[in-house]
Amino acid sequence: MSAPDPGGATTAAPDPAAGREAALARGAAALGVDFPLVQAGMGGVAGPALAAAVADAGALGTVALYKAAPDEAAALVRDTAARTAGTFGVNVIPEVAGRLLDGQIRAALDAADRPLVLNSYGLPPAGLARLVTDAGHRLLVQTGTPEDAARADGLGAAALALQGTEAGGHHLGTLPLRTLLARTAAALPGRVLLPAGGLHDAADLAVLLDAGASGCLCGTAFVAAAESAAHPAYKQALVTTGEDGTTLTDRFTIGWPGRAHRVLRGPVTEAPAPPPARFIAWTTVADGRRRPVPLGSAAAPTTEAEGRVDDMARYAGLGTARITAVTPAAAVVARYRGRTATAAPAAPAPAASGRT
Ligand SMILES: Cc1cc2nc3c(=O)[nH]c(=O)nc-3n(C[C@H](O)[C@H](O)[C@H](O)COP(=O)(O)O)c2cc1C
Repeated sequence: MSAPDPGGATTAAPDPAAGREAALARGAAALGVDFPLVQAGMGGVAGPALAAAVADAGALGTVALYKAAPDEAAALVRDTAARTAGTFGVNVIPEVAGRLLDGQIRAALDAADRPLVLNSYGLPPAGLARLVTDAGHRLLVQTGTPEDAARADGLGAAALALQGTEAGGHHLGTLPLRTLLARTAAALPGRVLLPAGGLHDAADLAVLLDAGASGCLCGTAFVAAAESAAHPAYKQALVTTGEDGTTLTDRFTIGWPGRAHRVLRGPVTEAPAPPPARFIAWTTVADGRRRPVPLGSAAAPTTEAEGRVDDMARYAGLGTARITAVTPAAAVVARYRGRTATAAPAAPAPAASGRT
């Protein structure tokens, strides 16, 4: 399409489809993948099977290290590499890993047989960021404010994930996604921005590409994937939960204090006061040992959990209302790939549209 200009010549009106294709191409190049959809690292839930399935579908699969010891981190990287020829990522949480972080990152990089995407939830220490980039790996940092995004950019991050308050899991900021994206895109023009929170499909992504994104990062959609290690009852709850089924709370802080988190509503979130922290389940953590789970633990219910799994931290974003089935991860990726470049933007906001 073209429009006359005052001087009588014609100027090309921007072509939204071409703009989206270009944005996706930039995101894909920055991440080293075919399609710039990042599957979030999710402690206990995102293991080698999920990461490899997502990588095989051309997006960025990510294996979560959470509180894994260095030798366990190395084993997770080797296991994922053995399952896929694709690019994959490794997720760390500096504020949770604490003194483990340095060893986790070094072990993951040493075990890698290809360039990795080191996906950090929150800012990593500068020395570790340099270790990653100097060794030829890519750094992706998820933040919740434009200011932290600028700091991550200063650390050499190839891509900046921006987490809005629609997101499942712990929150890095207090801004809704569209506001966070608009402010960050204005402050950091030309960067690869990957919004996260409540996103469900290609139409959601198209809206964000038009607003300055180059891809996106999604968690909850992949919890409901067949290859995720989420407990079957948790997956089923995601399928049946409708609008208003999630809440932002501070009830699951044991093991990860200090951040509000979005979870499925349940007896624990709806109780008028925090229930006492007695043991409600058993689960296996990274070292293979069975451990009791106190009510209020930050641990999500995985296939290893036995007991009152509905009272555990079932992290979920606002996109939950539109999840209607447990499907292979490749089908989840296909849903975002869809007709991204040409899809008409969904109205009103990505997280607010109805079930599909
Ligand atoms: C079950 C679950 C566990 C999560 N655990 C982590 C984690 O270990 N590391 C991390 O970087 N982010 C974690 N997140 C947050 C995601 O990185 C991301 O911000 C969020 O999933 C995006 O919102 P969405 O779930 O609506 O797609 C988790 C999210 C969920 C749903």
